[in-house]
Amino acid sequence: MNNPARIAVLISGSGSNLQALLDHTQRPSFPGNVVAVISDNPGAYGLQRAQRAGIDTTVVERAPLASRSAFDNALAAAVDACTPDIVVLAGFMRIIRGALVERYAGRMLNIHPALLPKYKGLNTHQRCLDNGDLMHGTTVHFVSAELDGGPAVIQAELTVEPDDSSDSLMTRVQALEHTIYPMAVRWLAEGRLKLARDAVYLDGQALDAPVVVSAASLVA
Ligand code: GRF
Repeated sequence: MNNPARIAVLISGSGSNLQALLDHTQRPSFPGNVVAVISDNPGAYGLQRAQRAGIDTTVVERAPLASRSAFDNALAAAVDACTPDIVVLAGFMRIIRGALVERYAGRMLNIHPALLPKYKGLNTHQRCLDNGDLMHGTTVHFVSAELDGGPAVIQAELTVEPDDSSDSLMTRVQALEHTIYPMAVRWLAEGRLKLARDAVYLDGQALDAPVVVSAASLVA
């Protein structure tokens, strides 16, 4: 791990989590820098955020490539080219497959807008409402070959209010993401967070379950 750690961020859309990370890395005490932003979507607003911050951007589109494997290879080449210590998936809407997962095992994080293992995949906020859940939230986890299935590191949870909609939940969950994702990236960059034999270690202690923080404690 370099000091400061070299961080590559993969996005497909708005990039609000990228922005939160950029804001944190601008603090002198943050132990890492975003050195590259890679998107599969040339129209991703997050690319503009990166450019405004003076960060190199790369676009790897699926459409012009002959196969999904060709895309996987091109994406892996783009990631490798910036020699990251840490790879951060921040709203990257494609499944990471093959060599890329293995090469960055223990160094690649994702954030998923649900309290995993609940609601892997899409439409998490609506599914939470449809099931009448009392609690909802977001999870930072290490990336494994299974979609949204790698070992969880930290969760932030909130109470679902009677008047919540899918949109209001998305807004409230994203506010939590903007705090816990930079926190987890910091831990990884500092060497406090490790993955070994599928167990997550924080400060040398194996976690039986992810660290859980409440919305109230984050606001306080
Ligand atoms: C986040 O809610 C994240 O949990 C999910 O995709 C969304 C990305 O939002 N993986 P943004 O692009 O960071 O604004």
